[in-house]
Amino acid sequence: MKDLISMRDLSKKQILKILEVAKEYKIDPYLTRIDREGIILLFLEPSTRTSGSFIAAAKQCGAWTIEISGQEGTSFVKGESIADTLKMYSGYRAKVVVIRTKIEGFHRSAAAQTTMSIINAGDGANQHPSQTLLDLFSIQETQERLSDLKIAFVGDLKFGRTVKSLSMGLAHFNPELFFVSPDSLKITNNVKFYLKEKKIPFSEHSKMEEIIEEVNILYMTRIQKERFPDPEDYHKVKDAFRLTAEYLKQFSLKKNFKILHPLPRINEIDTSVDTTPYAHYFEQAENGLHTRKAIYDLFINREI
Ligand code: CP
Repeated sequence: MKDLISMRDLSKKQILKILEVAKEYKIDPYLTRIDREGIILLFLEPSTRTSGSFIAAAKQCGAWTIEISGQEGTSFVKGESIADTLKMYSGYRAKVVVIRTKIEGFHRSAAAQTTMSIINAGDGANQHPSQTLLDLFSIQETQERLSDLKIAFVGDLKFGRTVKSLSMGLAHFNPELFFVSPDSLKITNNVKFYLKEKKIPFSEHSKMEEIIEEVNILYMTRIQKERFPDPEDYHKVKDAFRLTAEYLKQFSLKKNFKILHPLPRINEIDTSVDTTPYAHYFEQAENGLHTRKAIYDLFINREI
């Protein structure tokens, strides 16, 4: 496998292999199998964690990097195409290009034009496969398994890409899924079709109270303000969900119940939740480092 573009492309065996290698990197921070390799990072949409962890993972493993954040200050503003940019960088002997862009499906055409591995670091509201792999890693480490779990996704299920990717990744592990959102931000039909095709049970809800005592994982997401065509529509739903430590006290939650969030959070998880035994979102973000080292390792060495 040359590229990491969509969770649709990964088999269960490949997912488990990446998680196994990520665990090796978590146990040994000095481990590297990509020393002196070249990695290009093109972040054409804002990012803190994905860019930060991909850069840190490359540097901690001894790789060299070219890092572009936004088009400003690059020849993209002069009209240079991404295809030409990739062709030129492959001449520098880079092995991997990590790209975040708002253009959905962009990575597929980029991958067809280069021998370098293309890693999708997020394409608009579509896919975020490296996030899914770190999410699966975090679920596995908190639940000690991936199979037969009940997982709820809460928030902006229409514009958020992490939920779509993760639902597809989880489909290999016999889950039951609960989608909790305002009416205007329901999970998209392509995900529902995918789950139906894989015979994964799922249900849709408007309140967390309906499902919170049933689930092993509550996966919170922010309302994606930047993707609303009309700001008025954002204001109607921006406070739809809010977890606080006080709110959680009223429920009889499952043993090992954990709250995940891809971050950034806005107001959907109050900081009072951070010190409860349920919060796992900062560990989850740390797992991004280990998982992205594993991605570099397996794609550069073509062992996946
Ligand atoms: N989780 C995530 O994708 O965060 P960033 O947008 O900060 O990269």
